[in-house]
Amino acid sequence: MKALILSGGKGSRLYPLTYTNAKQLIPVANKPVLFRVIEAIRDAGITDIGIIIGSGENGRRVQEAVATGDRWGVDITYIVQEAPLGLAHCVLIARDFLGDERFVMFLGDNVIEGGISNLIGEFEQADYNCQIVLTPVEEPQHYGVAELNPDRSIKRLVEKPRTPRSNLALVGIYMFDHHIHEAVRAIKPSWRGELEITDAIQWLVDQGLKVHPYIHHGWWIDTGKPIDMLAANSKVLEELVPKIEGFVDKDSQVDERVYIESGAQIINSVVRGPTIIGENTRIVNSYVGPFTSIYHDCVIENSEIEHSVILEHCQISDIPTRITDSLIGRHVVISHSELKPRAFKFTLGDHSRLGLI
Ligand code: G1P
Repeated sequence: MKALILSGGKGSRLYPLTYTNAKQLIPVANKPVLFRVIEAIRDAGITDIGIIIGSGENGRRVQEAVATGDRWGVDITYIVQEAPLGLAHCVLIARDFLGDERFVMFLGDNVIEGGISNLIGEFEQADYNCQIVLTPVEEPQHYGVAELNPDRSIKRLVEKPRTPRSNLALVGIYMFDHHIHEAVRAIKPSWRGELEITDAIQWLVDQGLKVHPYIHHGWWIDTGKPIDMLAANSKVLEELVPKIEGFVDKDSQVDERVYIESGAQIINSVVRGPTIIGENTRIVNSYVGPFTSIYHDCVIENSEIEHSVILEHCQISDIPTRITDSLIGRHVVISHSELKPRAFKFTLGDHSRLGLI
């Protein structure tokens, strides 16, 4: 089997971070979401992987970060999508790479509990033409939605329906055989101008092909928005195996569900897990609370942070109020200033969001 990872898109709901980085490269528990996707595919025994990237800077950034795939023992082929014309369009332009082989398509911003080895195993054994993954969600109108027959076969699939007929959302992981190539050529763009993979799968159902719905019961997060990034971060941190590779001084308290990466230093601070502190990061006279990931080369001094994701090279110092529920990009400096007037002083990128008390 082959794999196709979709890693294009503007990631506009994650502005300003995605002006300078691909959303799939934003780390969750100090590892980019896309790397987690590659590892899940590799762990399922697939090494021939195509990655769809955009034609802009973020596409180049993905290529630079993932490179040949050597690091994971996989072989990466990049396929450039000139415009975001939909998930089914990605299959269309990956035709040469995919050939007639069966493949798994995985959205590069999806994080799923338990990996995909079971899913792939089931598809490899079975004679299904397609396998989709469904999971119950609270707001199905934001996803592709499946309606099942009483015998659990698929009745209908609708992309982002206004009045959903069920709470079963399509997870961004799909398995196909060669019939999908005919399907993506047969469908027309949707109201949002995209070739929807949901419509292509509906076409397979209409042709009487075997589309099997696999119901996923663990957690699954599509990391489109900052709040989803934080949720994914919390879920992955809960699964992290704790380890102390860095230095903790005798005045600090580090609880047992904490991962301190090499070169990190915890000085006179309290760190509550689940939390990860990245390489060469210094936590000094501070509190880092549960569900927090601080990436490499940061300094947190005389401050308190919890339920947050802080990217590399940030400096946060002397902040009198606890920072929480925050997603902070690279090289950000947040500090206390004695300069008059006593006021908040901001330099924020376009589309930044700030919650003050
Ligand atoms: C896409 C699919 C949708 C699916 C979702 C999963 O939505 O079109 O059917 O439920 O991914 O993440 P999009 O991210 O394009 O809004």
